[in-house]
Amino acid sequence: MGLVQRVVFCMVLAALCVASSMAEVYKVGDDNGWTTQNMPDYKRWSASKTFKIGDSIVFEYSPKDNNVVQVMSYDDYKKCNGSSPLKTFTSGKDTIPIKHKEHLFFISGFPDNCQKGQKVDIRVLDTSVVPIPPLAQRPSSSAPAPSPSVSVPAPSPNSAMSISKGITGKFGFVILAVVAAVAY
Ligand SMILES: *[C@@H]1O[C@H](CO)[C@@H](O)[C@H](O)[C@H]1NC(C)=O
Repeated sequence: MGLVQRVVFCMVLAALCVASSMAEVYKVGDDNGWTTQNMPDYKRWSASKTFKIGDSIVFEYSPKDNNVVQVMSYDDYKKCNGSSPLKTFTSGKDTIPIKHKEHLFFISGFPDNCQKGQKVDIRVLDTSVVPIPPLAQRPSSSAPAPSPSVSVPAPSPNSAMSISKGITGKFGFVILAVVAAVAY
């Protein structure tokens, strides 16, 4: 690699590391909030985001004529069935921290609202770092790897995900330092 490429490579990595370790707060429906007015497309909203552990979602609505019911299953979500809720939120501004890799289902507890489409499912990734495939193929010859996962070869597409599992939070910067050392 030339100097410019190396500098760019490291800057991109640093940017990825910083961006991916910052917790995001996502307002459900963006500017529309949680409403049936002009029925926002919550499926599309959800699909446009990348939810990860450490992020939060916020439901904003008028508590007089709306609420948020977290249901257990896709089936309840699909059928707008809030009869056995996991949790019910009623404050009008509910912040829900994402703590696990899971699939979360929320509906409006006002039946008509849910039937109109006021429901959202949130699929959480189990990584807080974007997987970087070339890293998996690079033999860590020059640096003592702080984690054996850095030098594990990638036998399947899934391995990139499993490697990134261990690389969270501050540990990402250790990996960054190792990568920077190898790159130079
Ligand atoms: C709604 O959920 C409850 C509890 O899980 C279940 O007993 C009931 O059959 C469900 N209703 C429908 C219409 O699916």
